[in-house]
Amino acid sequence: MKPWSFLIFCSLALLHLTGCNSSPPQFSNRAEFDDLEPYAQEYVSEVLDSYFGTPTESVAWERLPIEYHFAETTVSGSPSPRKVTLDVSAGGHGSIGPGTEIHFASSNESNWITEWDAATGLATLERKPTQTIAEGEAVIVGPGAILKNGRHLYAQHCQHCHGVSGDGNGPTARYLNPLPRDYRNGRFKFTTTNYDFSPSRDDLDRVIREGIPGTYMPSFKLLKQEEMQAIVEYVRWLSMRGEIEKQLIETALADYTHEAVKLRIDGGASRGEIETEFNKRVAEGEIQESLDVVVDLMVERWKGSDLPENMVQVATNRPPATPESIARGRQLYLDVNNKCASCHGDAGFGDGPQNYAFTPGKPGPGLYDDWNNPVKPRNLHTGIYRGGRRPYDLFCRIRASVKGTPMPKFDTMKEEDVWDLVNYVYSIPYEEEVAGSGRLEEMVDSAESETEPAAAESESNEVASR
Ligand code: HEC
Ligand code: HEC
Repeated sequence: MKPWSFLIFCSLALLHLTGCNSSPPQFSNRAEFDDLEPYAQEYVSEVLDSYFGTPTESVAWERLPIEYHFAETTVSGSPSPRKVTLDVSAGGHGSIGPGTEIHFASSNESNWITEWDAATGLATLERKPTQTIAEGEAVIVGPGAILKNGRHLYAQHCQHCHGVSGDGNGPTARYLNPLPRDYRNGRFKFTTTNYDFSPSRDDLDRVIREGIPGTYMPSFKLLKQEEMQAIVEYVRWLSMRGEIEKQLIETALADYTHEAVKLRIDGGASRGEIETEFNKRVAEGEIQESLDVVVDLMVERWKGSDLPENMVQVATNRPPATPESIARGRQLYLDVNNKCASCHGDAGFGDGPQNYAFTPGKPGPGLYDDWNNPVKPRNLHTGIYRGGRRPYDLFCRIRASVKGTPMPKFDTMKEEDVWDLVNYVYSIPYEEEVAGSGRLEEMVDSAESETEPAAAESESNEVASR
């Protein structure tokens, strides 16, 4: 028995979502896949296929914290053979109605709803179930429907930039800077969650709804709530798939790259021996075990990201942007311990010395993000904030950083200091610049006449400027 097959067995439902393309799209592998020995590559493909399927034939792996279905609930009564009452108190996630599939767990039988009363939960079924439906029986309403909707909407709106597998490498991507997000690191830049956490569902919803100002990430305000929810679940699903692929390659199979194998061959082992050892470790479940550990951690992190206690906490409102607050913020900004100026520049133009420093292993000078792309500290004079321009957004940027970039988190800084920095950041676009000097002049005076930046007038973000 293949070691991972028991996991499918454990999963409650294996759902095939059929697409209609004649040549169905395929998930591509990350570049490091090519570094593995052929048998290790085969293992990766088999694991990913069994947990996730293909884009058009997706698997709903119950171990992941994903809402796949419209609802998972129980039967509360069956007034006639073709009618069931469902417990709707559990709450649904999508529009149940005529045509919705309904799956009875005990008989493992699917049926379809022909009439639906949302208020009472009374469903009339297309045909008489082969077994009598008992009260308390578990049912899945719309099995896999959310993932399926998410996939269709993603293919329509997002895929040309973010790619089929969420690698940020769709056909449009090559023309864009910054590049579309590669979800597969599980790292997202603009969240309201603490540093170590993934985005919450609300974070993804917001970033997709509002777009990312100053980049090509558009705003999708016109999508319905239900469509947004499906897209959010699909992005989470792609992200988790990508993380598992990454962890498999980098952790569980690290001993089976061409390089690792060559080193061992140089040390006297034979290629055949190494492959036999690999097969033994697979058969004994050792590789699966090391994968299970990272899957558990990943699942906990995504679950935790939706808990209020893991959000960036703030006890006070933003204080008024008095000249004193702005001046204190400026001091904190220049403080060598905080290093803001070393990246963003003394005057905030995004031109600090770290932009010119060399880091070993990097192709050129300057800063790089977790995806190994060059990244520039923001020019704070533009007044464009990618993660949103609400005071809380800027508070989160400083507290939890722009994740996946070298911008550090400041999670031990006093709350009033963070607010002073926020007030300072807001004031930068309104500073008077003295021609030729490249420096600020009378920062405090100009801030006095402009305590509330005019650019903050609009509550929402601008749609990406192109
Ligand atoms: C025209 C190209 C384009 C399209 C279409 C597009 N995006 Fe993006 N998206 C981007 C770019 C570029 C970024 C990265 C911006 C950055 O790094 O600041 C991004 C970033 C993101 C992020 C990361 C946010 C974060 O906090 O890190 C998410 C999530 C996302 N997009 C989801 C979507 C979804 C879902 C859709 C479809 C409904 C979509 N995008 C459509 C270009 C696009
Ligand atoms: C090691 C370099 C580095 C340091 C230190 C640093 N930043 Fe940044 N900062 C960046 C980078 C890089 C970005 C842009 C990331 C991106 O969007 O991809 C950024 C973005 C920002 C943004 C824009 C957020 C948005 O939503 O667009 C603000 C505001 C900001 N930094 C403020 C600060 C402040 C205040 C400090 C000090 C307390 C600081 N930074 C320290 C590198 C740095």
